[in-house]
Amino acid sequence: MRHFINLKDIPTKDLRKIITDATRRKKLRKDLSALEIDKDNPLKGKMLVQMFEKASSRTRISFYLAIKQLGGGTLTLRSNELHLGQGGESIADTAKILSTYGDGFMLRTDDDKKIQNFKKYLSIPLINGLSPSSHPTQVLSDIFTVEEITKKPISKLKICWIGDSNNVLNSLIAASVKFSFNLSIGCPKKFEPSKKVQQWVRKNKKKIHLHNEPKDAVIGADVIFSDKVISLNDKVNKKKKIKEFKRFKINKKLISYAKKSCIFLHCLPRGNEVDDEVFLGTKSYVWQQALNRVHVQKSILLYCFGKLR
Ligand code: CP
Ligand code: NVA
Repeated sequence: MRHFINLKDIPTKDLRKIITDATRRKKLRKDLSALEIDKDNPLKGKMLVQMFEKASSRTRISFYLAIKQLGGGTLTLRSNELHLGQGGESIADTAKILSTYGDGFMLRTDDDKKIQNFKKYLSIPLINGLSPSSHPTQVLSDIFTVEEITKKPISKLKICWIGDSNNVLNSLIAASVKFSFNLSIGCPKKFEPSKKVQQWVRKNKKKIHLHNEPKDAVIGADVIFSDKVISLNDKVNKKKKIKEFKRFKINKKLISYAKKSCIFLHCLPRGNEVDDEVFLGTKSYVWQQALNRVHVQKSILLYCFGKLR
């Protein structure tokens, strides 16, 4: 049994194995429809419980499809429907109950400590479906999407992030260390990645490139990533923060500094950090990116259940 909590704690060879498996599986089921089960039916009869403390469209639906296509099923809960969420039951007891009924647990939470606490008491695999500090299933799937579209290993590409130093960027930074790719980040000085994150990169003898001018981050990029300026857990002055990011809005002019072949990716949901011309334009692969969550999460589930070939 293995958990999938943070990219930085998972060996690179395992992350690579997940991507390779997802590539193979996606090809194998190209003529099947959404609810048809993969021929090998590897998670037959298994149940994934997924619990959301915050809103979700993609993660929720893509995990539902992922476990279904592997032969299992899912139960989706909101924490406020549970005794836990009402303050009437401890994490320890809830974790034991989940481990009694289910085979795997996916949690989206507004508290990183909760992930650690569940990990302590669960006897089934735990998957982090987004926390304030990371969004590992999203980013591993994004690496898959980049390589699928560009047909190049990500280590050969220049990746750029324009936006806030949030959970998605933290996972992208972890991925840049694991997969050794060049990562340029464009954001206002005040919103640069935390000292802790930067120290971790240095400790691993790797480098990220920080720019406070969006154009400097974008120059020569093969891929531009972005995300909402205001995240689900953001308790800041929203109007002020959006204003501080105004210069970082992604438009045709900014993208023109990247490579001609550059692609645009965004995990969704979007705010106004990117204009429609880019988001809905020919360089944008956001819908393919969202669909690939299903394929990569299937291989993440197999990894967690000890079934990855
Ligand atoms: N990208 C992503 O995780 O979307 P949801 O918040 O809709 O799950
Ligand atoms: N950074 C965003 C990602 C949403 C999928 C958030 O945490 O709200």
